[in-house]
Amino acid sequence: MLIAQISDPHVTDDPFFIPVDPQERLAHVVAHINASSVPIDLVVATGDLTNDGTAAQYDILDVWLRKLAPRVAVLPGNHDDSALMRTALADFVIGTPADTHLSYVIDEYDLRMVCLDTSEVGRHDGVFDDERSAWLDTTLAASDKPTIVFMHHPAFECGVRWMDLMSLENRDHFADVIGRHRQVLTVASGHLHRSLTTRIAHAVANGAPSTAHQLNLDLHPDRASLSTEPSGYLLHWWNGTTIVSHAVTVNDHEVVRMDEVVAEIDHASNQPGGMPSLGSQAAGN
Ligand SMILES: [Fe+2]
Repeated sequence: MLIAQISDPHVTDDPFFIPVDPQERLAHVVAHINASSVPIDLVVATGDLTNDGTAAQYDILDVWLRKLAPRVAVLPGNHDDSALMRTALADFVIGTPADTHLSYVIDEYDLRMVCLDTSEVGRHDGVFDDERSAWLDTTLAASDKPTIVFMHHPAFECGVRWMDLMSLENRDHFADVIGRHRQVLTVASGHLHRSLTTRIAHAVANGAPSTAHQLNLDLHPDRASLSTEPSGYLLHWWNGTTIVSHAVTVNDHEVVRMDEVVAEIDHASNQPGGMPSLGSQAAGN
């Protein structure tokens, strides 16, 4: 199974501080996902779908989500309005949401997907209050199926101080909840506009790049900056046992096809005593 995680497209009709054109960049990401040689089953969009959470911006976003070939699930971020998303993007909430937050479960695949809403209008940091904690704990306790948790705010510090001030509240408690449920393999978040990896309890924790602008990697505690580095997304490959999360960069680059070596490698891999050296360009890797 393939799940593309797109994040932080910041679709806007008023590009105030964003150093790139969010819609132009989103168009390239949509085209990249649709051109995948192996069909992608699902796209999960982990928040900051719009820049200002207005109806007009959700209308713009809706057009792009409908262009995606795979099915799409959405989560809100700190730039969104989750109440408005319930109606404006109802087709992309593909589970039964909780009453007071837009959290839901996609439970129709071998890999269970728990989508946790960490947003609250008026706050830029992430909310993990008693209600959401109880929802997550109860939801995870309901099934032993291998699980990936999607959320907007990262439940870890990344070292970029100004972003760490806007990460999830009660992170230690969040880790305690995850730690009680060993079937959680990966916790995948957005918000940071960079691809990175760490750990929460026993689980792998990912941060996704933005489809629009990136967070400039500057660890100086008094600095904050954005970047026009290429857009990207995460491609989570579930093989029935584990999740491998590929970071995909979407920019102009050359692809060198060498399909002819596959049969040679296939044959060599079946030789007793390990794979012998190869005569072709496959040796180059
Ligand atoms: Fe964002």
